[in-house]
Amino acid sequence: MKTILDLITDELEQAFEEAGYDKELAKVTLSNRPDLCEYQCNGAMAGAKKYHKAPIMIANDVVEKLSLNNSIKEAEAVNPGFINLRTNPEFVAHFLNLMSGDKKLGVEEEKTPKNIIIDYGGPNVAKPLHVGHLRSAIIGESLKRINRFMGNHVTGDIHLGDWGYQMGLIITEIKKRQPELPYFDDEYTGEYPEEAPFTIGDLEEIYPTASAYAKEHEEYRDAALQATFELQNGKRGYRALWNHIMNVSVNDLKKNYSNLNVEFDLWKGEADAQKYIPDMVERLKAEGYAHLDEGALVVDVKEDADTKEVPPCMILKSDGAALYDTTDLATLVEREELFRPDEVIYVVDKRQELHFVQVFRCAKKTGIVREETKLSFLGFGTMNGKDGKPFKTREGGIMRLEHLIADITGKMYEKITDNRTVSDEEAEATAKVVGLAAIKYGDLSNQASKDYVFDIDRFISFEGNTGPYILYTIVRIKSILAKYEQAGNTIDDTKILAARSESEKALMLEACRFNSMMETVYEELAPHKICAYVYELANAFNRFYHETKILAEEDAQKQKSYIGMLKLTRDILNTCIDLLGFEAPERM
Ligand code: ARG
Repeated sequence: MKTILDLITDELEQAFEEAGYDKELAKVTLSNRPDLCEYQCNGAMAGAKKYHKAPIMIANDVVEKLSLNNSIKEAEAVNPGFINLRTNPEFVAHFLNLMSGDKKLGVEEEKTPKNIIIDYGGPNVAKPLHVGHLRSAIIGESLKRINRFMGNHVTGDIHLGDWGYQMGLIITEIKKRQPELPYFDDEYTGEYPEEAPFTIGDLEEIYPTASAYAKEHEEYRDAALQATFELQNGKRGYRALWNHIMNVSVNDLKKNYSNLNVEFDLWKGEADAQKYIPDMVERLKAEGYAHLDEGALVVDVKEDADTKEVPPCMILKSDGAALYDTTDLATLVEREELFRPDEVIYVVDKRQELHFVQVFRCAKKTGIVREETKLSFLGFGTMNGKDGKPFKTREGGIMRLEHLIADITGKMYEKITDNRTVSDEEAEATAKVVGLAAIKYGDLSNQASKDYVFDIDRFISFEGNTGPYILYTIVRIKSILAKYEQAGNTIDDTKILAARSESEKALMLEACRFNSMMETVYEELAPHKICAYVYELANAFNRFYHETKILAEEDAQKQKSYIGMLKLTRDILNTCIDLLGFEAPERM
């Protein structure tokens, strides 16, 4: 469906042409003075120079030609040359009925669907998930859903950090504790036993212990580096141990991400890319892209237009070891081979931007990806505590994701049981659903690239611009609809009629904006604009609700129209929160 802005613009175009002006000037936008009008067109101002005329004269000419029988009911030229517009309530109702009848609520899918990979999550195996990983998961999941909604084919890849020094550290620590295990035997050739010699709880303790110990003890650190090297060179026993670490961690990660309503299609990681490195390096050398620089193998990626220095992409260290750049390039080789994506979107901490500039340029320059492949970096800011510093526990340690979630769910549980009497079971289930919405909305309502303050008390509030407020609105609508049905009515045969009150019209105009809002969100990869929109829509609904007798309305047609609006508002809100990655409970 066309957006309402397009439909109104069409009419303005006609009027501009009939008045003898260029129709390019006819662009209509949402009014920035809702007290004066609903939509506006500033084209007369833009045309003044071209036509050597005062803008108000152009605006007057256009208004004179404008038909007031279709989308527009009132048009007014005001100084210095704005055209203020109010829509026809019948037209708006017609638009909303079309929307209600469309399975995508008026949003048009991409005409040539793209094949997109989203690289998000990016947890490091065997290190507990902390809040830093939260943003990537939440934002990436939403981008995945938005792209799917627009008709693209999307593959979400978690891209595990499963190949670095942390693996060597863990192996070294296990060797210290359990030297009798067969994996440390140089002659070890056997398959690894089914049972892992540790649990996730052990691993979570082993890694920080080893990491701290290595910082103090050089010998230990060297041993860990050596173990990393041997693992990467295929030492059988270490590979077996690595498999155990992976199995145990991935199981745990799956549980954690599923609690967040985050789902990956691919559980690949840095390790999977390793086998593509040798051929890639050979080619980069043979084709003259890579050269030696102080013993390291590098590819120059600076460009004339650079204002800041962009250092070369590092392919191999002087000791021959692969680096972060190498792994990401090899992952692109792998992705190209397995998926031939049209676009790869990376959702990673914005402090890694330079790394991605280097990798993207190198991949393009050396033909690792095709000319037309789009590589996008969506860098997100830091999640800070109320003190403005990176989020920590009360004791000052790194906040584990599980604890954060438990904390919020607990507070939500209290709120829910304070408000009314519910069974324990229901309160717990509801607290989980609403708590997750609080976290996700709290995060997504900020522009991704900005740092923000993670303020639990504000996020869990049922009032204001919060996830729980949006859910509360949905629950309220569902409950009215349920009551209407319980009184023996059906909600299947509604027809929305022209608005009769200001608050009804305001709600309708908000609802109309859905497809144009989604166009912008999709173009800009900006889930925060969905949040801004649902907040406005929920506000408009609640105003309408407080000013309108819905269930007590005696005129059945009028009532049916209200019910139609409720259904549509519910559907839009539900669609939006699904795109944000959370859902509404039945009651709260
Ligand atoms: N594991 C990395 C980290 O924790 C993030 C990975 C991001 N994705 C990528 N393709 N480099 O910093």
